[in-house]
Amino acid sequence: LISETVLGIVVPLTFIFFTEPRLIVVPLIFVVGYIITARHYLRRLMPVIQRQREQYGLMNAGLEETISGIEVVKASAREALERSKYLRNAQHFRDLFVEQGRIEARYLPLLLFGIALGAQFFHALWLYSIGDIGLGQVVAVIGLMNVLRFPTFIALFAFSVFQAGLAGARRILAIINAETDLDENPDGYRAPLRGEITFEHVSFSFAANPGEAPHQVLHDISFHIPAGQTVAIVGQTGSGKSALTQLVNRTYDATAGRVWIDGVDVRDWSLDALRSQIGKIEQDIFLFSRTIAENIAFGAPDATPEQIEAAARAAQAHEFISRMPHGYQTVIGERGVTLSGGQRQRIALARAFLANPRILILDDSTSAIDSATEDEIQRAIRQAQQGRTVLLITHRLAQIRWADQILVLDGGCLVASGTHEELLRTSPHYRRIFARYDHTTTLTDPAHLTEGAA
Ligand SMILES: Nc1ncnc2c1ncn2[C@@H]1O[C@H](COP(=O)(O)OP(=O)(O)OP(=O)(O)O)[C@@H](O)[C@H]1O
Ligand SMILES: [Mg+2]
Repeated sequence: LISETVLGIVVPLTFIFFTEPRLIVVPLIFVVGYIITARHYLRRLMPVIQRQREQYGLMNAGLEETISGIEVVKASAREALERSKYLRNAQHFRDLFVEQGRIEARYLPLLLFGIALGAQFFHALWLYSIGDIGLGQVVAVIGLMNVLRFPTFIALFAFSVFQAGLAGARRILAIINAETDLDENPDGYRAPLRGEITFEHVSFSFAANPGEAPHQVLHDISFHIPAGQTVAIVGQTGSGKSALTQLVNRTYDATAGRVWIDGVDVRDWSLDALRSQIGKIEQDIFLFSRTIAENIAFGAPDATPEQIEAAARAAQAHEFISRMPHGYQTVIGERGVTLSGGQRQRIALARAFLANPRILILDDSTSAIDSATEDEIQRAIRQAQQGRTVLLITHRLAQIRWADQILVLDGGCLVASGTHEELLRTSPHYRRIFARYDHTTTLTDPAHLTEGAA
């Protein structure tokens, strides 16, 4: 486009020059004047375009938040407030477009060309009247002026589109170029996972904003989990349970100390190999607005319908899925709002079963589920424990009691570890937590659950 535009400007100028050298004056002034005007124009336009992009992002982010939080908005009777907030944003956005129009109008290049064309016409007519050029040359020169018009406009247009694109690209590049030390390590260690986890003097702080002190979440934590164990992590809210599991699948890296998986530092693992073998059910279960089958098969897109169903059965989810209007093809609403907490949990479990990871992390602190569902989920989790390492964050005492090992966190420190009986005897922290945790849950004998699952 650039070379064509340049040619489109240079060629007519050359022809005009060879038709009559004196007639080059007006078009040259036009082209030079045009370039100068265009530069001024773009210098004024660009900040407005940049602000338009930013405002657009702001407006949409606000809208998305209001829509996904619509229940809170309604429950707090904030509809009018949210609406006027959006309106203000939209008005500001519109103002920025009006401003763009104003700038464009002020530098209207059409006007400039009209003046140039008129001046050239009179200049040529004058040269004709004094007999220096023929009528054919007048016509040719005016025709060439018109040839010149299009490429100069295109040049400006192309340039301003390019500049606007640049404004957008700058915002995207800022994100793409953001430094991260959690990049895939192409030469990283790849091997089938056994599921042994070791923490060695691990501390972790959330990176604070510049100028703020980092917020230390985990302090000098060491423990060892042999492959195949089920380990419960207990502690008060905010004690660092979720943060601890985030260091296992490298959602974050420890700020001090080392995390070993199968005797290899997590930072030396290929991120892909590591994460594809670690399953995680998050505290906030995220489901996509797709079918139930697609949600279950998210980590294993090649799974057959039979495999999906088997995973759902193992997760005690088959029964409620079958009762849905379209079974496995039922599309889940935005973020899965049409499912209950317990149902979402079982879909997430089925997803984990299908991916069949060697390490399974269940972050389940907040769930409150009726005891019938509770039993089913316990059965499903019991099933999930077979042949893998399980990290279990839960308030359900029944599940904690089954664990091979219990880690007790308090304020980011590992204050005790051991089995339920040991801890009841030795750890006042554990006794306190035990007293506070959910005693409404039936302390089911794990034996009958295992039978149920079998
Ligand atoms: N993204 C974050 N940025 C900064 N601080 C965070 C972030 N996420 C968590 N924290 C802080 O880390 C600490 C531990 O949080 P964590 O989520 O691990 O607690 P938890 O034990 O899982 O609590 P809960 O039982 O409520 O789930 C808290 O003080 C919390 O405020
Ligand atoms: Mg948590």
